[in-house]
Amino acid sequence: MDIVDLTPRHLSWIAQAARILHETLPQGWPTFESARAEVWESFGPGRLSRVAVDERGEVLGWIGAIRRYSHAWELHPLAVRPDRQRQGIGSALVRDLERLLRERGCLTLFVGSDDETGETSVANVELFPDVLEHARRLAVLGSHPVDFYRRLGFVVIGVLPDANGPGKPDIWLAKRIGPG
Ligand SMILES: CC(C)(COP(=O)(O)OP(=O)(O)OC[C@H]1O[C@@H](n2cnc3c(N)ncnc32)[C@H](O)[C@@H]1OP(=O)(O)O)[C@@H](O)C(=O)NCCC(=O)NCCS
Repeated sequence: MDIVDLTPRHLSWIAQAARILHETLPQGWPTFESARAEVWESFGPGRLSRVAVDERGEVLGWIGAIRRYSHAWELHPLAVRPDRQRQGIGSALVRDLERLLRERGCLTLFVGSDDETGETSVANVELFPDVLEHARRLAVLGSHPVDFYRRLGFVVIGVLPDANGPGKPDIWLAKRIGPG
């Protein structure tokens, strides 16, 4: 497997990345067209866009990042082909992104991970007024990418109540990737 830049020249990879995004995160990208638009947005200024490809040139996963502050980038989005999940591809994509961002002087990488299906302790409960206390005690009840990010060294830095509707928060995590 190789991890390489995704560019506007890679029309087949763009379509494959869009299909993976649409298939894995249909709540965020309900149509193939919306996912393809997201991939094209990843070629703008202050962006990074990388794909994992196998030896046959098939896309296994896609990761993007957006410069949001002078020294902090947002990881957005990340998706691994369903039949190739849990094989280390997502971890490899995040580590590769961290290396590239470190070279660009990034100190903090952060990511928002929605809970729309009640997989964590911060879904379907009133988070106000002690939002930070709920974030501090956040537990994964079922299966949620929070566990994936924690294994990679991210910590929960907050939750945005009702970001996706009542009881459906966004969970924010961050990781120091540069010298403090
Ligand atoms: C989340 C995702 C990117 C992880 O990629 P991956 O290639 O499957 O992850 P890895 O194989 O590198 O996982 C490493 C470890 O993270 C944990 N992990 C991975 N996916 C997880 C999930 N969905 N829920 C909980 N833990 C997970 C596991 O502990 C795994 O180790 P294990 O296989 O030994 O148990 C991938 O499952 C995916 O594309 N999911 C759908 C889209 C999505 O949720 N994207 C993230 C939005 S914020």
